[in-house]
Amino acid sequence: MTHLTHCIYASAASEPFDAAALRELLDASRVLNERAGITGMLLYADGSFFQVIEGPAEAVSELFARIVADRRHDHVTRIIEEPIPRRSFGNWSMGFPSEGLELSQLAGFNDFFGSAACLTRLDAGRARKLLAAFGAGRWRHRLSDFAPLAA
Ligand SMILES: Cc1cc2nc3c(=O)[nH]c(=O)nc-3n(C[C@H](O)[C@H](O)[C@H](O)COP(=O)(O)O)c2cc1C
Repeated sequence: MTHLTHCIYASAASEPFDAAALRELLDASRVLNERAGITGMLLYADGSFFQVIEGPAEAVSELFARIVADRRHDHVTRIIEEPIPRRSFGNWSMGFPSEGLELSQLAGFNDFFGSAACLTRLDAGRARKLLAAFGAGRWRHRLSDFAPLAA
């Protein structure tokens, strides 16, 4: 039986990503993820990323090593890596909020985060809340695998 894990990290973009750069990143990632059996979600806000990658343990560690080496971002901080009983984002090769760049437009986002809105400052507790809100909770329907950005 395949052993599933997820890896959750935050990072800081080396240079601000615009809509085109995000789209390029998502398009390439989705093709590769589909091949590797990886699913997950990516958030981008104010120059920082938060990503969940999930799938077979080896594929997840191998992808994370590649992501860490990517010069488009730095300060890559792994928050959680652990076995999971099932995927939270099985419907998305890489889900991204359909609102695109303006994550703070999600109803309740700022209330939810309060002053810790910066994705790179998330601890494991808030990371799990975010995972739950997008994976099963109130923001799940906001994720899209297709038109990632309105613009
Ligand atoms: C924030 C961020 C998230 C990424 N997410 C993925 C991903 O989910 N899947 C993926 O294959 N590559 C992802 N990449 C790109 C990888 O770092 C890498 O460029 C890509 O997998 C191709 O690897 P290669 O250049 O070694 O062939 C991401 C990069 C960044 C900066």
